[in-house]
Amino acid sequence: MAPRLAGQRDQYIGNQLLSFRDHIRDNPLSRQYMWGAAANLSAQTVHDLSAYFSTLPTLPADDGDRQLAAAGRTIYEQGIAESNIVSCLVCHGPNAEGVREIPRLGGLSYSYLKRRLEQWGEGFHAAAGPMPHIASTLSPNEIDALASYLSFVGSASVE
Ligand code: HEC
Repeated sequence: MAPRLAGQRDQYIGNQLLSFRDHIRDNPLSRQYMWGAAANLSAQTVHDLSAYFSTLPTLPADDGDRQLAAAGRTIYEQGIAESNIVSCLVCHGPNAEGVREIPRLGGLSYSYLKRRLEQWGEGFHAAAGPMPHIASTLSPNEIDALASYLSFVGSASVE
């Protein structure tokens, strides 16, 4: 349920810590765990924590449904033209490694990715950006497929 932070992008971690501190990221587990944890973080500590986690090696969660991974990869790389869903690759990168403040998705756990994508559709908030709109256009099956595919990215068994 909690995200893997190892290898996550420095600026993304920093932005999330600030959005917990400022009560912008407001889904139930964020309220329960992260609002308190981030309440007293100084700018320097946010910077140091983000820099630290971003240098740790990534380890894929590998816990999605293997049978859905190919379908998830197609959506990730090509989007779904008929439902106006853009390709995830244009922002999150060809290997789901992220860029600048856009997070790495490769290797996050299936359950975290699934909840995160569902919660945008349920109206919970995050820092400004395109995801609430993108996620709310995905069907439950598409979310399952994407979360499965992404959980395996970086794993020797699917590359
Ligand atoms: C136009 C650029 C753009 C596109 C296209 C895009 N994303 Fe994102 N995505 C972002 C940004 C920016 C964030 C960070 C939002 C924030 O700071 O809260 C993000 C965050 C996420 C997160 C949260 C990761 C975490 O660690 O909590 C997930 C999951 C995600 N995107 C999945 C997807 C999927 C799946 C697609 C394709 C269907 C997609 N994104 C397409 C820009 C994009």
